[in-house]
Amino acid sequence: MHDNVYVDKQQHIVDFAFNKDVVAVFPDMIRRSVPGYETIIPMTGLIAARHLGDEGTAYDLGCSLGASTLAILQQSKAAKIHVVGIDNSSAMIEEARQQITDSRASFECADLLSTPVQDAKVVVLNFVAQFLEPQERLALFTRLQAEMHPDGLLIVSEKVRNMDDTMQSVFDETHLNWKRANGYSDLEVSQKRQALENVMKVDTEEMQLQRFQEAGFNVAKQWFRCLNWASFLVYKRLPTS
Ligand SMILES: C[S@@+](CC[C@H](N)C(=O)[O-])C[C@H]1O[C@@H](n2cnc3c(N)ncnc32)[C@H](O)[C@@H]1O
Repeated sequence: MHDNVYVDKQQHIVDFAFNKDVVAVFPDMIRRSVPGYETIIPMTGLIAARHLGDEGTAYDLGCSLGASTLAILQQSKAAKIHVVGIDNSSAMIEEARQQITDSRASFECADLLSTPVQDAKVVVLNFVAQFLEPQERLALFTRLQAEMHPDGLLIVSEKVRNMDDTMQSVFDETHLNWKRANGYSDLEVSQKRQALENVMKVDTEEMQLQRFQEAGFNVAKQWFRCLNWASFLVYKRLPTS
């Protein structure tokens, strides 16, 4: 369904929420708003499926409609893998349950900040940590590191900001032009930006890498970058192959 959430002029812009209105248009919204989304999700599936191998559990934290969950399932033939999708939006989880009926997946409406990931071989956080309070992020990654399997792999995708003001302007303007090219009007872009202002707090790439290290992960590598969007592979210990 076409994203028209911000088409009409709104008198008061309320903070962005992952509610029923957004659920209905979410795949179209994220595809037309996040450069690289259509590469990151299938690659998440490939990377996670390879890492899981024949058995093990993956968590898709902040799963929304389960795009990453589905990508993993599509890339793995293993019967003994399990993918757990977690989101605190009940509208998202209800829809994910309807759309993804593979018995290797399950979905739970819960706060990811208090969801254990004991012995997980893979944890995915695609475009989620940016919506958490900045002071909650290090504690979350530290707990994930402690609870995951010794060979655990964390896949984190985020919007990032730049330390360099010139590059920030180049990327911001290019992103604006990309959204226009994807059919968004300037009114839609500006109303959505206002709605996100209080709820999305973005770190730099350097802050992300430093936090993974502080949380106790041994290896963190940025494997994807497009304008202000980046994705990282973060390992508890160096993978052997
Ligand atoms: C941009 S969406 C994620 C998109 C999804 N991972 C994907 O790649 O299609 C962010 C999601 O995180 C969820 N979320 C935010 N904070 C959360 C929390 N504390 N616990 C669980 N889910 C949360 C939101 O409800 C929303 O569905």
